[in-house]
Amino acid sequence: MAADSCEVEFNRLKVLIMPQRIQKRRLETIKIAAKKRGVNTVCELSAEVTHVVTEFETMEQVVRALKMDNVASLGNVETVSLRWLTDCFKAGKVIPVTEEYRLKLEMLESSQNGNEADDKHPSLLPEWACQRATPLEHYNHRLTTDIETLQLHSELRDQEQDYSRALAFRRASCVLKCLPFRVTDISQISNIKDVGDHVKRVVKDILEDGFSSEVDEMNNNAWFNKMKLFTGVFGVGPSTAKKWIERGWTSIQDAAEAEDLSKDWRVRWGLAFHEELQTRVERPEADNFMFMVRAEAQRILPGTTVELTGGFRRGKKTGHDVDLLISHPQEGAEVGLLPRLLKQLENRGLILCGSYERNSFTEDVLRQDFKLSQRGQLDHFEKWLGICKFPKQFATTQNGQDVVQEAAGMTPSSSKLSGSMEEDYEPKAKLRKLGCIDKCPRSVASEERDWLARRVDLIVAPYSQYYYALVGWTGSKHFNRDLRLYATRVLGMKLMSHGLYNISKDCVVPAGSEKEVFDNMQIPYREPTQRNC
Ligand code: CTP
Ligand code: MN
Ligand code: MN
Repeated sequence: MAADSCEVEFNRLKVLIMPQRIQKRRLETIKIAAKKRGVNTVCELSAEVTHVVTEFETMEQVVRALKMDNVASLGNVETVSLRWLTDCFKAGKVIPVTEEYRLKLEMLESSQNGNEADDKHPSLLPEWACQRATPLEHYNHRLTTDIETLQLHSELRDQEQDYSRALAFRRASCVLKCLPFRVTDISQISNIKDVGDHVKRVVKDILEDGFSSEVDEMNNNAWFNKMKLFTGVFGVGPSTAKKWIERGWTSIQDAAEAEDLSKDWRVRWGLAFHEELQTRVERPEADNFMFMVRAEAQRILPGTTVELTGGFRRGKKTGHDVDLLISHPQEGAEVGLLPRLLKQLENRGLILCGSYERNSFTEDVLRQDFKLSQRGQLDHFEKWLGICKFPKQFATTQNGQDVVQEAAGMTPSSSKLSGSMEEDYEPKAKLRKLGCIDKCPRSVASEERDWLARRVDLIVAPYSQYYYALVGWTGSKHFNRDLRLYATRVLGMKLMSHGLYNISKDCVVPAGSEKEVFDNMQIPYREPTQRNC
């Protein structure tokens, strides 16, 4: 009986034995011993491999020998010393992988001393987040969640040093997302430059006690919770939220009653639809809306491209909004498209409220000195930011094309736009009249309806700026921040969603693909799903 169950355990293993540093005869003996016990051994890494077994001492050596980009590429695999396998054989069963068997990272001497990694010797954990692959799923959510709470707290408090403090927390959280193992001991991360003393303290507490009292206190702090609640309202930033708290408001209800006549249409609609906007947008909804917008845009202007960007493009299953990037391969053809598109969406009854911004880009924008603050994130694209009405069937229909067909027959809203599709159409004025001023948000919210309110960002990029815009609007926010800082500090260039500006040559560096954006930045290309820092 016992022997049987051990065999079953051994059967579950799929082990890659790295031949380096193991004598041929010893390797043969080990392979035979493995076979006898039913252990599956392979010569190449694949998704099914459960353990990489090696005589190497560090993860860095393993990653290099496997010709990988960095440690994140190892995915879900335990990387252990050969001794673990031989101990399993001795014990006659699969023994747990404990610290003594696990390989150490030990990557830090080279990259942290400023030695540049080259192609032959990629650094295991490159210094910049934009040089690393950062997946959505990783091993250290328990730690990164708490560290990002500290980050958010600093951001919302926004006093002296808080911006850099928040950034430091984010850097630490970001580097933990790249590690190919779960951190179980503080020594595993003691050399990592991006993990400072404060984070180390928090990690140590979580590892030892299962929680950090500092983070727990934060999570129970009334001010912090009110700030989170209020800044979660569309149109409300930290300074407005602080004012509301000073007025003694504690709930959305308090704010909604007092702000019913707010001058800011976003706040009125944001409050009225707060609960609904808090529910996550699912991927099918985003896809269906994208198909719908694409079909409309292409009817107006054949050849128009509409891409789903933001978190969804990075592989997230849900999001807080839908970010669509619109362009046309013929430079200049896109001019005037967005107002006409908005009018069509309005006719279809898809628009609740929103605001339109004209394109305010000139090349001077790239030349201007800019601080790497939150303000530096803003771009000058023509755009519409608002709330759309998603037919409820968007959530349940998988085939976007069908939805587009059906929605073509959707009842137009009662306040249908009048007039022609002339060039002088001014969406801002008209949309205000239609959605943002005439109607009472709270009564619209309480009406019986067959749609859900969803936040939507529509961005138009001229084709010459398209791939920089695509990178910028794909994110993550921290990935962008890191890219921009890297451009300034390392390349002496300026990066925006409009392009890369070579300051010394006084010229913009064109890109005809996302890969070229990365090439121009002299960093390895990363798929959108690996930009989740
Ligand atoms: N962005 C930007 N300029 C803005 C707003 C956003 O360049 N004025 C970028 C952000 O940096 C981010 C991307 O556009 O990379 C999408 O922003 P947002 O929707 O806020 O974040 P997501 O990553 O999509 O998160 P979620 O899934 O919650 O929507
Ligand atoms: Mn988004
Ligand atoms: Mn957005």
